[in-house]
Amino acid sequence: MKGLLVTIDGPGGAGKTTVSRLLAKALGYTYVDTGALYRAVALAVLSEKCSANEDSKVAQICRRLGFRFENSSKGLRLYMNEVDVTDEIRTQEITMLASAVSARPVVREYLLGVQRGMGKNGGVVFEGRDMGTVVFPEADVKFFLDADLSVRAVRRHKELVAMGVNISLDEVRQTMYRRDKDDSSRVLAPLKPAHDAVRIDSTSLEIGRVLELMLGHVPV
Ligand code: DC
Repeated sequence: MKGLLVTIDGPGGAGKTTVSRLLAKALGYTYVDTGALYRAVALAVLSEKCSANEDSKVAQICRRLGFRFENSSKGLRLYMNEVDVTDEIRTQEITMLASAVSARPVVREYLLGVQRGMGKNGGVVFEGRDMGTVVFPEADVKFFLDADLSVRAVRRHKELVAMGVNISLDEVRQTMYRRDKDDSSRVLAPLKPAHDAVRIDSTSLEIGRVLELMLGHVPV
């Protein structure tokens, strides 16, 4: 039987990545982190010394890119043109550039095709910002996972510190606030819940409970 398409949208730090991985594992599905694709495009744009708003150059760069996710003992890895970019795309510089790049129609249009291609056989959990609204409006099950900014900032700060990044909680909170605002106010595919999404607030929920709630909405 063809697997379902499950989408999980929401702002950064709400727990999307952790729960998307767990949900995909519980269902035996593939997990796709679409934020990583925007980050990788940002990396390509940066390495070509191009700026996010040079549309024709950015479009040209996109046309030369190929993506592949692979599960490994180190977790999900993203290969861009067969180069593992998983770690390189997590810097603060790429985080801000990815947000700028993701507001450009040429990039969204290009990644729309890439993402739909990855979902064509079903059996995938897609994590992102517009999965349930734009990329897969016909998805079988849609979630919108949110949490208070202060809680999300603490979670993201912990992750960054664990990765060896030297950054204050306040800086993380401010960056997050700015990025959420940019992602939610852009004209194209803004961050917002699909009308038929199941909304979950993880502010005071353990990740295991979030997973349980989600599993309760996926028909087996
Ligand atoms: O989830 P993330 O922080 O890795 O996402 C990086 C950026 O990409 C973020 O600014 C939002 C953007 N993004 C998007 O616009 N649409 C998606 N489906 C996923 C991410």
